[in-house]
Amino acid sequence: RILIIDFGSQVTQLIARRVRESGVYSEIHPFNSVTDQLLEEYAPKAIILSGGPASVTWEESPRAPAKVFEMGVPVLGICYGQQTMMEQLGGKVETSDHREFGRAYVEINKNCALFDGVWEVGTSEQVWMSHGDRVGKLAPGFEVVATSEGAPYAAVANEEKKFYAVQFHPEVVHTPHGAQLLKNFTHNVAGCSGDWTMAAFKEQALDAIRKQVGDGKVICGLSGGVDSSVVAVLLHEAIGEQLTCVFVDTGFMRAGESEQVVSMFRDNYNIQLVHRDASDDFLGAIGDSIDPEVKRKAIGKLFIDVFEEEAKKVGGADFLAQGTLYPDVIESVSFTGGPSVTIKSHHNVGGLPERMNMQLVEPLRELFKDEVRDLGRELGLPDSFVDRHPFPGPGLAIRIPGQPINREKLDILRKADSIYLEEIRNAGLYNTIWQAFAVLLPVKTVGVMGDARTHDYACALRAVTSTDGMTADYYHFDHDFLSRVANRIINECRGINRVTYDITSKPPGTIEWE
Ligand code: XMP
Repeated sequence: RILIIDFGSQVTQLIARRVRESGVYSEIHPFNSVTDQLLEEYAPKAIILSGGPASVTWEESPRAPAKVFEMGVPVLGICYGQQTMMEQLGGKVETSDHREFGRAYVEINKNCALFDGVWEVGTSEQVWMSHGDRVGKLAPGFEVVATSEGAPYAAVANEEKKFYAVQFHPEVVHTPHGAQLLKNFTHNVAGCSGDWTMAAFKEQALDAIRKQVGDGKVICGLSGGVDSSVVAVLLHEAIGEQLTCVFVDTGFMRAGESEQVVSMFRDNYNIQLVHRDASDDFLGAIGDSIDPEVKRKAIGKLFIDVFEEEAKKVGGADFLAQGTLYPDVIESVSFTGGPSVTIKSHHNVGGLPERMNMQLVEPLRELFKDEVRDLGRELGLPDSFVDRHPFPGPGLAIRIPGQPINREKLDILRKADSIYLEEIRNAGLYNTIWQAFAVLLPVKTVGVMGDARTHDYACALRAVTSTDGMTADYYHFDHDFLSRVANRIINECRGINRVTYDITSKPPGTIEWE
């Protein structure tokens, strides 16, 4: 396995992903938590030093522990990682007036194990650069293997020690052969076999769950989303009857979703499932509120209360299972007034474990979202669950903005939403789109249907592409598709007489309308 030492780059997680995609397990640890003891215990087959926002030329900028270079394992430095490696091994880093941000080209001057079968001497290759500083003098034992206009030492190597360092970012997709360079490093240089698969992970995870839980009882909140579905099925496979799932039905789910959850997990997987229909309570908790934050708080609080009530009824649970993912737990390095470590944590049912004296079981802590989907497939979950679009906890309650919510409006929205999603599926677009949904607008407009005047709701359709939900672009449907959906919604949804399409990207918009 590979250890990635994080110096705070925005794209450190991508290094871990690329390494795992090549079948090698990897973990990210922030530079200031990597002790000699951790290095010994983790016993990495190779180490990668990430990029980062600091400058090696600053007085107190971060360094890799000296032991990294003394363990006899291959080391790859990327961007800041290259610079600190050079500085620590006797080279020099300078602040350059030729900065490079974005696409750049490197000339390959020499063969190097990183380039085997990928780049040839004499060619010019596209890479992604993002640096102000650059190496000015090589550390002893290194030679230059690639250069760019702004970085005479774009790639350097000490083949004897198996130390490599690059100024560009091989982990981002804008370095087209970057993933292969990383694979050369982990497979050819470090000798990893590439046999880390989801099937192997599943077996490890089952073992770990059985060890942690023993013969204790586990409660798991199930929403029907990808993460909680995978947690539930994995735990069930590990501990069977010791697991009880609680599905708090807010009444804000999409059409048919509650029934699907119950039939999939109770009937199909034979999981003990408590289905609490709390739709009246949730509608009551929001009342006439239209402020999105007020609605969110009311829903969040009631969710915890109802969950706790059901968990108490199940009784005697020692553990609470949660679908926390790797991006939620990686300790991220931040540089606000000097190096510090902040941890973002997930609070699906915040505070409950302490209140009820339960321990957490978080079997997805080491996985990225797409790996969770792979694990779901490995566990036999159907695509309709595994590939499901993200859905916010407060559900349809934040898709009826600017107006009091009631059952009638929820039903109208549900119908419009299901027609829209059905058409998207029929057009084969569901998996290309990150998220698509309808929004019921707080405005009634005049229309004419048959010979009669109508005065009904307008609805907006939203569809976005995204890789992580942090930024998004609206999906460019063709107009025939939009016409077909609009026609069907107006004809089949009593209560809607006008349809619009939202062409806002994020930023400046958010994905949800709230
Ligand atoms: P925004 O609207 O902020 O949403 O652009 C980004 C992504 O997050 C989802 N979202 C939520 N997911 N609980 C969730 O689990 C929530 O409360 C929540 N609110 C927004 C949203 O659907 C989009 O995918």
